[in-house]
Amino acid sequence: MTSNPNTPGIGLRLAHLAEMVATRPAAGWLEVHPENFLANPHAAELLTEVSLHYPISLHTVGISVGSANGIDHLHLKRVRGLADRLKPIFVSGHLAWSTYGNEYLNDLFPLPYNEESLQLVSTHISYVQDTLGQPYLIENPSSYVGFRSSTMKETDFLSEIVRRTGCQLLCDVSNVVVSAHNMVYDAYQYIDNFPADAIREIHLGGYTPEKDEATPGAELLIDTHAAAIADPSWDLYAYALRRFGPKPTLIEWDNEIPPLAKLLGEAAHAGEIAQMIDTKAEANHAAAR
Ligand SMILES: [Fe+2]
Repeated sequence: MTSNPNTPGIGLRLAHLAEMVATRPAAGWLEVHPENFLANPHAAELLTEVSLHYPISLHTVGISVGSANGIDHLHLKRVRGLADRLKPIFVSGHLAWSTYGNEYLNDLFPLPYNEESLQLVSTHISYVQDTLGQPYLIENPSSYVGFRSSTMKETDFLSEIVRRTGCQLLCDVSNVVVSAHNMVYDAYQYIDNFPADAIREIHLGGYTPEKDEATPGAELLIDTHAAAIADPSWDLYAYALRRFGPKPTLIEWDNEIPPLAKLLGEAAHAGEIAQMIDTKAEANHAAAR
């Protein structure tokens, strides 16, 4: 692999930071959570060193565009400061809320999809983009519950925030697998409905099946990022690439983190799938001429 966002990359976590600096393995690009570096000068220094050799993307977990009480401006300014130093290829975050008042919650919570939340989220995304001085990518969440007050599909909600704010999208294919299983809908149909023109990035992450306590005999998929990419995610990824065309792709693994080589192997597999599809698309194109 060479360093190039067209080659799949990996989420770089603190556990692998020193090894990346020391060994500089081939990787397409790297994505980090800025929150891990804002109060850790040593890690920030190592990250700056890494950024000399790999394209970097910032994936925020603390900018809470779904919070009813607004965006933490100080936090956003700190992210902007890091972005000014690293010149990231993307800055992204989630269609979710994760703060309440001054509390930062260690989770991404869902919001109803209706006009009220559309207005709130759009205002916040525009504010984030104005402060960052660049487009913000919004990622589709992994879902476990829905709201009776929702009046639109998630993909329509995403289309509308793109239209209102000019933001871009990050399609997490594994989140689609997780949500489609838990919420009982067709993952492939979801990809068909996803606003393809706005996609700048794809995520793939591992999930964990767990017993559904509320429904005996049923199973939930939990978006743990604690496992290898499962076959349904690889299959949906191939389908998504056929529909969206080639997109920068990133492997996420945040818990029970494996050796760096294992992560790079997952990225290489994503690259093989992309290559196969590219080749097939070219072959089909050639056959049609
Ligand atoms: Fe993701």
